[in-house]
Amino acid sequence: MKFLFLGDVVGKSGRDAVAERLPNIISKYGFDFVVINGENASHGRGLTEAHFKGLRDAGADIVTLGDHAFDQREALSYIERENTLIRPINFAPGAPGRGAMMVEGRNGHRVLVVNALGRVFMQPADDPFRAVEAALAEAPLGEVVDAVIVDFHTEATSEIQAMGFFLDGRASLVVGTHTHIPTSDHRILKGGTALMADAGMCGDFDSIIGVDAEEPLNRFLTGIPNGRFTPSDGEATLCGVAVQTDPRTGLAQKVLPVRIGGTLNQAEPIFG
Ligand SMILES: [Fe+2]
Ligand SMILES: [Fe+2]
Repeated sequence: MKFLFLGDVVGKSGRDAVAERLPNIISKYGFDFVVINGENASHGRGLTEAHFKGLRDAGADIVTLGDHAFDQREALSYIERENTLIRPINFAPGAPGRGAMMVEGRNGHRVLVVNALGRVFMQPADDPFRAVEAALAEAPLGEVVDAVIVDFHTEATSEIQAMGFFLDGRASLVVGTHTHIPTSDHRILKGGTALMADAGMCGDFDSIIGVDAEEPLNRFLTGIPNGRFTPSDGEATLCGVAVQTDPRTGLAQKVLPVRIGGTLNQAEPIFG
């Protein structure tokens, strides 16, 4: 099985790149399943229902969120109706929506996707490690599901790598989101779990993590806000990670970075 994970979609530029390129990428490489983090798709803050549907129409089987999950207030209600949208599993008890979902992909594969929030340099959250572990125990890889994909949304690469080692042999992929900067540490751990500290964003890289440089630079230089952050509107790079799994075990056989279009465009195809 082959699946694709794309990092945080930022603003219109990110949404347009997903809509324009993803359908071709799915058919070109034969991806059986696609997960997209949509936490910044609506003007950099949260995800409206219309933009969620746009990501689904482009080919996302599951959309994940993060600390910006409910920046668009409508997400508090429509998330309850959707069975392909998840928010961090370790939000406080009673938060709307769910943090893990098992769905069937376009070619019949059963896939469990889990979204969790880290605790290093982040707002307080419940223990992500035990929360993810409990979700995985309900749908063991290679027995109940063909793939387990964990989107661990946090700032510190060390925390994501810790999640990778914690779940080694129990997940197909553990990948970080939130920093918007893709890392080049993609590899397969000894137990067969693919790990990458950050998928990077689907956004315009002629920017500071997806927003026009002027205001964040001003804040670093002066400490005084002088306006809002504006999502950059140049051509986006689609950033993420592609994984091929062993059909018997669901563990990773190949893991490859994805950087398509815009400033970070990679020269090579994803699967040679
Ligand atoms: Fe983000
Ligand atoms: Fe985030």
